[in-house]
Amino acid sequence: MNLLSVRDLSVTFHTEDGEVTAVNDLNFDLLKGETLGIVGESGSGKSQTAFAMMGLLAKNGHASGSVMFNGQELIGLPEHLLNKVRANEIAMIFQDPMTSLNPYLKVSEQLEEVLCLHKGMSKAEARAESIRMLDAVKIPAAAKRITMYPHEFSGGMRQRVMIAMALLCRPKLLIADEPTTALDVTVQAQIMSLLNELKRDFDTTIILITHDLGVVAGICDHVLVMYAGRTMEYGGVDDIFYHPTHPYTTGLLGAVPRVDIELPELRTIAGNPPNLQNLPKGCPFQERCAYAFALCQQNIPPLTGFGNHRQRSCFQAIETITATEGVGL
Ligand SMILES: Nc1ncnc2c1ncn2[C@@H]1O[C@H](COP(=O)(O)OP(=O)(O)O)[C@@H](O)[C@H]1O
Ligand SMILES: [Mg+2]
Repeated sequence: MNLLSVRDLSVTFHTEDGEVTAVNDLNFDLLKGETLGIVGESGSGKSQTAFAMMGLLAKNGHASGSVMFNGQELIGLPEHLLNKVRANEIAMIFQDPMTSLNPYLKVSEQLEEVLCLHKGMSKAEARAESIRMLDAVKIPAAAKRITMYPHEFSGGMRQRVMIAMALLCRPKLLIADEPTTALDVTVQAQIMSLLNELKRDFDTTIILITHDLGVVAGICDHVLVMYAGRTMEYGGVDDIFYHPTHPYTTGLLGAVPRVDIELPELRTIAGNPPNLQNLPKGCPFQERCAYAFALCQQNIPPLTGFGNHRQRSCFQAIETITATEGVGL
């Protein structure tokens, strides 16, 4: 069953220099229990996609299209009803745990307040449940450490506290926006394996937003590759990794450190993400694409289905790209 169906989701911002479209006609479905990775460089519209779904866009932003979550339309939902969804059904975690945690309150106070307020628990019940949740995110000596302040935890442990807080009300959907970007590689791996476990234990559906394709490999079922607010490629995680067909996806894969192949240096995609206010006519990726030809300068490639429920937006024949790049690099 679809937990989430996003249809033609667009996000525009009013700015002094005119309208900026940060998300452009995004479509995807998410089955219950599934994990979707949304991947793209900085500025590609990943966070605004999540904010639009949660009704959390900045004041100058406007979302259109449809976000059906568990049978309820979220776009245009009145604030008091959105608050209910945000408190109980969709939780979001961020790169910086201090976005969610109050530095002046002990962790116990912050966790317990959520449960007393939203689940009507007594103080004692809330304490017991909070400790259980800190245990679940593998914070050692949780019963003792629950009375500490956020700054008394290390970066990785603070991230775990934030995850515990996000999962307290047992949300159906967890949106993790660059949850490990600020952490070193070892801690990053620990947090990802924790998310993987929690997804099983709590039966949580996850949207994992990241600029790093390497992060999605072990946890995601499907991957949506975004560029300049649009879907470039969508597919199962193995197809995206081993048989990428969009030049942007192969570029992102080239930027993933590989242990199995010795590369002279880490390859990156040449050039920078485009200025949304000054997008070229045609494909937004054309200026950085080694395969661009005349058609790409004239028209935006339509998102086309192929293979095993895959989609991509590119005029190049699939065979041309995979043959040149080498399948799976
Ligand atoms: N409040 C705002 N006003 C105008 N433009 C905005 C605003 N917030 C975001 N944007 C635009 O949306 C683009 C996509 O942002 P975002 O979704 O945050 O990117 P990312 O993929 O890095 O998460 C930004 O590059 C910026 O151009
Ligand atoms: Mg972001």
